[in-house]
Amino acid sequence: MKKIIVAIDGFSSCGKSTMAKELAKKVGYIYVDTGAMYRVVTLYAMRNGMISEADDKKTVDEQCLAQDISDGKITVSFQLNPENNLPMACLNGEVVESEIRTLDVSNNVSNVSALSFVREFLTSQQKAMGKKKGIVMDGRDIGTAVFPKAELKIFLTATPEVRAKRRFDEMMEKGETDVTFEEVLKNVQERDYLDTHRDIAPLKQADDAIVIDNSNLTKDEQNALLLSYFNEAVNK
Ligand code: DC
Repeated sequence: MKKIIVAIDGFSSCGKSTMAKELAKKVGYIYVDTGAMYRVVTLYAMRNGMISEADDKKTVDEQCLAQDISDGKITVSFQLNPENNLPMACLNGEVVESEIRTLDVSNNVSNVSALSFVREFLTSQQKAMGKKKGIVMDGRDIGTAVFPKAELKIFLTATPEVRAKRRFDEMMEKGETDVTFEEVLKNVQERDYLDTHRDIAPLKQADDAIVIDNSNLTKDEQNALLLSYFNEAVNK
């Protein structure tokens, strides 16, 4: 059977990764969470004091971060978790899967991911990962910038409230109980704004993407829908 590239884009906390992982598992494709890659670079910048905040405004020390990237001091990779076979994000070989999911990282990642040199650094790795096809990649610019020729492009969306509720419930489950629903909703809305308004590769629906609004869909319903689009694209 021919192998294709599946590009899944959409707003934060839409359930893109849940959907993408499920499809990849079902059809035996590689799954890549590009948001995790931006989060890893953000974590590096935070750990190395490259993000400062004054008057509620965050500033990234672009020069230092660009230098460290060009000096090869930041390696972003994935390791398979032997327990569930899912990829775990790594920073310079260290598994940082839970560190990159905190609200602190979420609050800084839009600023880091708006930088052109960060996007170039990660986009070139993502393109290389798709060379052999057989990949499901999720993010914000996969169908527009990374794989504009992907055989199947999905644009996933849901209301900000539904998305914030999902992220909030996830955090509670993980024991991150020191946040309120309002804080999570504010983060979702701020990221929506920044993701859609940045100059380079903003979140935007590709002209040939299929839109799925999953506000009122169960996981099973959305997975079945995606699988039907996948089968159609493979048999085209
Ligand atoms: O999918 P996520 O919420 O884990 O993504 C984290 C951030 O990374 C998000 O706010 C925007 C950015 N991102 C991006 O700019 N381009 C991508 N392809 C993926 C994520």
